[in-house]
Amino acid sequence: MNKQSQVVPVITIDGPAGSGKGTISQRVADHLGWHILDSGALYRLVGLSAQLKKVDLDDELALAKVAQELDVVFKSNDEGAVTIFLDNNDVTLDIRTEEAGSAASQVAAKPSVRKALLERQQRFQTSPGLVADGRDMGTVVFGEAPIKIFLTASAEIRAERRLNQLKQQGISANLRGLISDIEKRDARDTNRKDAPLIPATDATIINTDEMGINEVVDKVLTVVKRVLPKVL
Ligand code: DC
Repeated sequence: MNKQSQVVPVITIDGPAGSGKGTISQRVADHLGWHILDSGALYRLVGLSAQLKKVDLDDELALAKVAQELDVVFKSNDEGAVTIFLDNNDVTLDIRTEEAGSAASQVAAKPSVRKALLERQQRFQTSPGLVADGRDMGTVVFGEAPIKIFLTASAEIRAERRLNQLKQQGISANLRGLISDIEKRDARDTNRKDAPLIPATDATIINTDEMGINEVVDKVLTVVKRVLPKVL
């Protein structure tokens, strides 16, 4: 463990697609004034970059090179909205399509890709603190984090949330297709050998099926208050 990781606290928020990780992570980070790592965006960027470079999504070596050489910039405006640039092109919306999610899940199953992105993710651990959103934040990337949250929700509820999210972004989709995509993605993310989607043994598990965003944020902040009383 380096000096930085001993002093800069991390909250990991893991869970399956559509479990609300992104929104909850953003709200918790805003509340604390901490940085945020959207690790799923990195896998989505590798998938998109590979497709643009015509790299086969089964070619692990070539994908690892894409991941290593990923030229990405996350730019936040004053309101906290993030614009994502890949090779200087704004790809903020392109990486949010279901197709990009599926490509991300395929490339994320390759151990060399995960290895290539490991350090890049750990570099986000900067003062005053980090909220890290993903699948293996608590189990692999920030295994020493003092606070680990794992969000769950049924596939139907997650698909409904995704549908609303996509609608707001002007992207059309249908519920049945989304449920099927989510189930496929769950199976791939959960059954892969390297860093599968599972809660860390010391994670707090929150089922969000019947909960609104504010309720989940409050629950996370209650854990923060208990574990890191000086932060709140
Ligand atoms: O969170 P998301 O839907 O943007 O993630 C897209 C895909 O990336 C997801 O299906 C699995 C993969 N992923 C991963 O394997 N590990 C992470 N830490 C984050 C995402």
